[in-house]
Amino acid sequence: MTSNSPKLVDGMGRTIVNLRISVTDRCNFRCTYCMPADNVEFMERSNLLTFEEIHRIVTVVSKLGINRIRLTGGEPLMRKDLPSLIKMINEVEGINDIAMTTNAYFLKDQAQSLLDAGLKRLNVSLDALDPEKFRDVNRRDCLQSVLDGLDTARKVGFKSIKINAVAVRNFSETEIMGLIEMGRSEGFEIRFIEFMPLDSDKVWERDKVLFGHEIVDLIKEKFELVPVDNSLEIGPASEYTFADGKGKIGIITAVSNPFCDHCNRIRMTADGKLRTCLFSENEHNLKDLIRNGATDASIAEAIQQAVLIKEPGHKINLDDFKQPDRAMHAIGG
Ligand code: 5AD
Ligand code: SF4
Repeated sequence: MTSNSPKLVDGMGRTIVNLRISVTDRCNFRCTYCMPADNVEFMERSNLLTFEEIHRIVTVVSKLGINRIRLTGGEPLMRKDLPSLIKMINEVEGINDIAMTTNAYFLKDQAQSLLDAGLKRLNVSLDALDPEKFRDVNRRDCLQSVLDGLDTARKVGFKSIKINAVAVRNFSETEIMGLIEMGRSEGFEIRFIEFMPLDSDKVWERDKVLFGHEIVDLIKEKFELVPVDNSLEIGPASEYTFADGKGKIGIITAVSNPFCDHCNRIRMTADGKLRTCLFSENEHNLKDLIRNGATDASIAEAIQQAVLIKEPGHKINLDDFKQPDRAMHAIGG
């Protein structure tokens, strides 16, 4: 192995370059596809990795070839002083992309300091532009705060803002066109993500998924779509531009046509457990390693070993599928 060959390669030959870090499992929303309505049991704060511990993990993985970091939650902005963490990560050699997935509620106040700290890209969760439907799915009556957050993010100068909309049958159909129109006029790429079985309420059923091909068909009734050739940078979304040249959308067929064969990511939960798949049944405890005084070399070794046995793919479409014990807010989106 030459010194610059990738060092995080799994058993199927997939090279891992992307780490998603959940910084908290707390959230001020209670989206139906993610959290229960109430009585959520959150992690004890003492179990959350400190910024210094997260920084250490990032330093270790950067030497293994990871160059992209995404901060997730829960709602990452529920974690106090997140810009400090972003600054710390930004200084790690080899990390050239820091993104964050947020519900945008706190963006109005924090967008500027996040940008100043070095955050490059934002993904904002927004499923409905109808205030009542927003309230139904997010269980909070605050569409306007999210729109204000988005507006501020764009005004302070975020260049890449994507919107994630979870695609749920008998819910999303009425919202798709509005979201697309907004994306086209404001310059946001809208990404529709098939509803996955990661909800705390465990109400997921295949019949509740609005499939990607159905979304494309709906959009084609009004717009001509041009598939984007993503052969150079493979990501989980199939992307399309509009034939009139205005705007871009992405469809993430996480259920109907999973991206697993090309997956290049791993995840770390807020309590320091490495998960090699959203749907992992096993976790690798990095927090204990760190807190028991492990060296960087042994942390790196543990991560390499974990990656070696990364799951080939999720089993949503197989009979022996088991929904993970953790819901999305405790894994990190
Ligand atoms: N299925 C699909 N996407 C989900 N998200 C959360 N829960 C689910 C689910 N069950 C997405 C949301 C959010 C991100 C954190 O994860 O779109 O943007
Ligand atoms: Fe919070 Fe995001 Fe889960 Fe919604 S999807 S409850 S915003 S963590």
